[in-house]
Amino acid sequence: MSYGIVFIGTLAKRRVEHIYVANWFFAAFIITVAVLHIVNSAQIPVTMTKSYSAYAGVVDAMVQWWYGHNAVGFFLTAAFLGMMYYFVPKQAGRPIYSYRLSIVHFWSLISIYMWAGPHHLHYTTLPDWAQSLGMLFSLMLLAPSWGGMINGIMTLSGAWHKLRTDPILKFLIVSLSFYGMSTFEGPMMSIKTVNALSHYTDWTIGHVHSGALGWVAMVSVGSLYMLIPRLYGQTQMWSTRLIDVHFWTTTIGIVLYTVSMWIAGVMQGLMWRATNADGTLTYTFVEALKATYPYYAIRLVGGTMVFGGMLLMAYNVVKTVNQGKPTAVTPPALQPAHA
Ligand code: HEM
Ligand code: HEM
Repeated sequence: MSYGIVFIGTLAKRRVEHIYVANWFFAAFIITVAVLHIVNSAQIPVTMTKSYSAYAGVVDAMVQWWYGHNAVGFFLTAAFLGMMYYFVPKQAGRPIYSYRLSIVHFWSLISIYMWAGPHHLHYTTLPDWAQSLGMLFSLMLLAPSWGGMINGIMTLSGAWHKLRTDPILKFLIVSLSFYGMSTFEGPMMSIKTVNALSHYTDWTIGHVHSGALGWVAMVSVGSLYMLIPRLYGQTQMWSTRLIDVHFWTTTIGIVLYTVSMWIAGVMQGLMWRATNADGTLTYTFVEALKATYPYYAIRLVGGTMVFGGMLLMAYNVVKTVNQGKPTAVTPPALQPAHA
């Protein structure tokens, strides 16, 4: 609520008429997350201290996943797309590839995301038509997602060489690649027959982290590396080399994490569904779990690399902050790149 007031109040006081697209995404994120919480928490009071959920049974499940999926869509996606639309053009020193595409991206993304929640409830007691509707909207979601990814990556046209020397840009662009991967994978997993294999397995966990780590964490880290020196009146981080090391440990770590979970997930799915000629299960659950151990070890290595990279970042930030006293000079303009 207070974030919303500060944000919308700032917009109301703006001196330029135009509202840059990044702010559209932030506004959608703030408003939607509030609406999700209000609807999902609706209760019917019974006494002064006791109340029951306004929903029951499968309706409750559907409302839960309407909330859950839109949390992914508006918190883990829209908010970070807002960051992407600001920081990628800024760091690349180029205007956004297509402003028109960004508007199409915004409206199509927010209108389609709202309907995709039922893909979390495939093969449940949710009516079949609702499941199919969720699948259809999830498949459609590929288009705006990739539109956004392409818009971000193509912003580098004419400036590709910067990727060689600028690890911050590498963070931002690789995060967009992970965004593209997870938003391709998501629609595939929403296809009912694919979901029959992937659901409950570590494939879902692989998908979660190609989005949450590959996209959300990497775009955040890239943005922070750009923002932190400016907040402290400096032009750049203490060590660019260290950012580069961080970039590689994170990227390799996330690849180890997601790939190991994909392989583990498909293996679990196949082991769980395998049956003998007489119809009994070929493997016990524990056998499938034991077969997964090596992949958990690989995930541990990947996760440790990601964590180690964050420690490097913390060190770099401390060094940057201690580099010198903040100056009274306003940091290099933090205005939208297209303006
Ligand atoms: C086009 C975009 C996407 C689609 C259509 C999609 C679709 C799916 C599907 C089908 C599942 C599996 C549901 C299940 O079997 O239980 C799933 C799970 C999940 N996805 Fe996505 N996904 C998309 C993008 C993303 C992104 C970008 C993120 C993160 C930033 C993300 C985070 C998650 C999470 C956290 C879960 C696990 C939910 C749970 O706890 O069960 N998804 N998604
Ligand atoms: C080094 C970094 C990370 C490691 C090692 C890690 C590890 C894990 C593990 C072990 C699980 C449990 C999986 C299971 O139930 O079998 C998990 C779940 C989850 N993580 Fe992470 N995580 C990391 C970073 C993140 C980040 C940055 C986000 C969000 C931006 C995130 C979001 C989630 C979500 C939403 C789930 C629940 C998925 C589900 O149950 O469907 N993780 N993570």
